[in-house]
Amino acid sequence: MGKNVLLGVCGGIACYKAVEVASRLRKKGVDVTVIMTKSATQFVTPLTFQEITGNPVSVDMWDKVQHWDVAHISLARKADFALIVPATANILGKLAAGIADDMLSTTLLAVTKAIYLAPSMNTNMYLNPIVQRNLKLLSSLPNYHIIKPASGHLACGVEGVGRLPEPAEIVEQLEKDQLAEESLAGKTVLVTAGGTREAIDPVRYIGNRSSGKMGYAIAAEAVRRGARTILVSGPVALAAPAGAEVSKIETAREMKELSERFFPQADITIMAAAVADYRVENPAPLKIKKEQEALLVHLVKNPDILAGLGKIKKEGQVLVGFAAETHDLLAFARQKLVKKNLDMIVANDVGRKDAGFNVDTNAANLISKDGKIEEIPLMSKSEMAKVILRRAEALLSK
Ligand code: PMT
Repeated sequence: MGKNVLLGVCGGIACYKAVEVASRLRKKGVDVTVIMTKSATQFVTPLTFQEITGNPVSVDMWDKVQHWDVAHISLARKADFALIVPATANILGKLAAGIADDMLSTTLLAVTKAIYLAPSMNTNMYLNPIVQRNLKLLSSLPNYHIIKPASGHLACGVEGVGRLPEPAEIVEQLEKDQLAEESLAGKTVLVTAGGTREAIDPVRYIGNRSSGKMGYAIAAEAVRRGARTILVSGPVALAAPAGAEVSKIETAREMKELSERFFPQADITIMAAAVADYRVENPAPLKIKKEQEALLVHLVKNPDILAGLGKIKKEGQVLVGFAAETHDLLAFARQKLVKKNLDMIVANDVGRKDAGFNVDTNAANLISKDGKIEEIPLMSKSEMAKVILRRAEALLSK
């Protein structure tokens, strides 16, 4: 498969399971490079990992390693993704605080790809509000993924949450997310993201609360799956996903023009943008002065971009919309699915504080044309992007 994985091993009793994780990854043809913390070497020797992976194991920042340039930077650069097994409370705390004081934490801070953390520790430690806060913070970052610990009998003698999942389960999750072939290679994915802006005068506009996070996460995931990815984006404060072709627009009509231009090339189109339904009919050419007690602004309806695409959709194209609703979520979403001729709609309950606009997490229901509803629980927007693309991909291959 030719993937490179950086396996970080921290000092916990579950260290021995990291040996099996390394072995299973090797058997799948993955090149595994291990960094151990000093405490981890008290449980398992570096030699064990060296023998299993066939690669030198790093522990000390100051070791003389001949064949790497700046060791921690080159290890970070080489990795297609990183996996920390077990992730102790200590490494979670360091990552959440941005502390880099040993080989593992220093390297992880330089990793820009996905980082999977498999926490394992005593139940009380795991449930400690500080640890939970750190986990919440990390899981809200786009490239961090938490592999949830299992419950059961722990080495410290208690029953509860904090047990490392079985190595086979950990590798299975990675297989789905990272080791799968580039499932969208040769395909084109068109994504819209962010909110549009409609001018009132040269300095004021009508806008909405969309941050673009959801659409950008979908575009990043499409790139990771090997698709040519076209992103049509409203004004947002986000870095462009590496590898995506980004076109910036301001108004709904500009978004319409670009979406229609790219749509015929797209195998999958996902409209995550929050498009203004109305625009100011005659924006003032000069700044409006505040002389009047009241100001009337006449709004006219914007074109519905998605409905337009639904009309020109060809056989074999998959069209996915979002529905942002504060009430009667499923009923309104179903209506939009039918009316706009969609293959799937992501029904977003934007009345929740932790989902929808301008937050790092989302929760939704995926409704497909055949009426099937899948409830997607609260998760990071990058996790949700994976789920949405997995479903869209399945629709494409139907
Ligand atoms: O950007 P974030 O901060 O991460 O927030 C994510 C999100 C809440 C913006 C996103 O997940 C979402 O729900 N996007 C759709 C927002 C919206 O405009 O929903 P709607 O129910 O009004 O529109 C339904 C669908 O029609 C959407 O796919 C929308 O892009 C599309 N539409 C709407 C109006 C219009 N004139 N043209 C359109 O194409």
